[in-house]
Amino acid sequence: MAQEQQQQPHTSSSHVLIFPLPAQGHVNSMLKLAELLAHAGLKVTFLNSHFIHQQLLRHTDILSRFAKYAGFQFKTILDGVPNDHPRVGGDFVRKLFDGLELITKPLFKDMLVNSKPKVDCIIGDGVLGIALDIADDLGIPIIQFRTISACSLWAYFAIPDMIHAGELPIKGNEDMDRLITSVPGMEAFLRCRDLPSFCRASDTKDSILQQLAQETRKNSEAHGLLLNTFEDLEGPILSHMRTKFPKIYTIGPLNLHLKTRLFKSDQTSSGPSSNSFREVDRSCLSWLDKQPKGSVVYVSFGSVAVLSREQVFEFWFGLVNSEKRFLLVLRPDNMAENGGGDDKGVSIPIELIEGTKKRGYRVSWAPQEEVLAHEAVGGFLTHSGWNSTLESVVEGVPMICWSYFADQQLNSRFVSKVWGLGLDMKDLCDREVVEKMVNELMVEKREEFVKSAAKMANYAKQCVTVGGSSYCNLDRLVEDIKLMNT
Ligand code: UDX
Repeated sequence: MAQEQQQQPHTSSSHVLIFPLPAQGHVNSMLKLAELLAHAGLKVTFLNSHFIHQQLLRHTDILSRFAKYAGFQFKTILDGVPNDHPRVGGDFVRKLFDGLELITKPLFKDMLVNSKPKVDCIIGDGVLGIALDIADDLGIPIIQFRTISACSLWAYFAIPDMIHAGELPIKGNEDMDRLITSVPGMEAFLRCRDLPSFCRASDTKDSILQQLAQETRKNSEAHGLLLNTFEDLEGPILSHMRTKFPKIYTIGPLNLHLKTRLFKSDQTSSGPSSNSFREVDRSCLSWLDKQPKGSVVYVSFGSVAVLSREQVFEFWFGLVNSEKRFLLVLRPDNMAENGGGDDKGVSIPIELIEGTKKRGYRVSWAPQEEVLAHEAVGGFLTHSGWNSTLESVVEGVPMICWSYFADQQLNSRFVSKVWGLGLDMKDLCDREVVEKMVNELMVEKREEFVKSAAKMANYAKQCVTVGGSSYCNLDRLVEDIKLMNT
């Protein structure tokens, strides 16, 4: 049963309901969108799953930021996944989609029918087809927000074409460097290994693959598509997409856009926090303060990736052996052996403990945006989640990409081959490769990467300032939503 959590007096007559997929990466960026829209004076309802909202309630900094918007409220809804089920890894994703279809969909419809004030526009997470179905049923305009890159979305969109052209499925003994030619705009560089991880399924009837392809095709049926990207980064791919999607609003990078808008109107504000629900260990900032400029490799695998103990140790050995300084984020649920639990029982080789004491620092969760903005950080070893990628782009930090799943394989190919912002480790997880790539990033190819990263960071800044593409697109979005209030 949907429950109202917080009610504020409303300031504007247009009411938009935002419904993210209940996962950290998605909620994180949709909260930023919500804040931008509330800041623009719209009435905003943010629909969280009970589970996510319970975590959010522990973060008074986030709640108090939203409390200042008179027209903003949180509501909650069940997501159909039992509370004690681990919320990481592929099995969770499958359970979640089943739960949303069976449990959440009817509750969501009920909530919309009874909403007071009525909802003028839904901004649904683009992976949630249920929002589009219900919006159609009730005649409510819907704009879909995909939290991933345009390049990966475009590849998802092309899945049926790849199947039709015989390029999918990828067979067991396949040459993973084979070029894929049926994704417009990527013919020259897209390899099998760069396709979304779900394309590696042995069967094109794989339910996640089919679901992704269907949901993405359905995105083009919405009134508009919102993307957390910017024209200077993904312009060529966006041109292809505009032949299939009627209206695309690129309004990213959202973290930078939000800071720019808030600072502009409130000079006393220290800027929004990262919307992270985990307990942040800020001690790493003091450690960074003591390190030389540009000397530290920051290492993080985002909020969902689950690695084997061997993989974690290969990364760790590679870092120690590179003899570079490093800040390593290892979530307690990062290792598969712990079944999403605690890693206290895992014995860590003495070389890693000693090597970390000497040149490294380890935390369970870092204030990532602040870390990337810290002048001691010179490189980012990342799983290529889209938020992490954009956060690195904004701060001009070159990357080593080790993609885990979903959109991340595409992001890492674009980071290295198209944008020239770093190296793609793709599919290799070996201490010697890690050591070699860390040295390339931090020493041998440093100058070239730092130069292109600084250039892209500058484009990012321009696009969210007055007259920039993302700035204008957000204004256009707000105006379009206001017109839906009939
Ligand atoms: C998931 C998918 O993996 C990603 O590919 C997709 O684009 C969005 O959903 P996640 O794996 O969590 O997200 O990666 P990412 O998109 O990079 O988001 C992680 C977020 O957590 C970032 O905003 C990052 O700043 C934050 N974070 C990560 C921290 O605040 N502290 C940390 O220590 C690590």
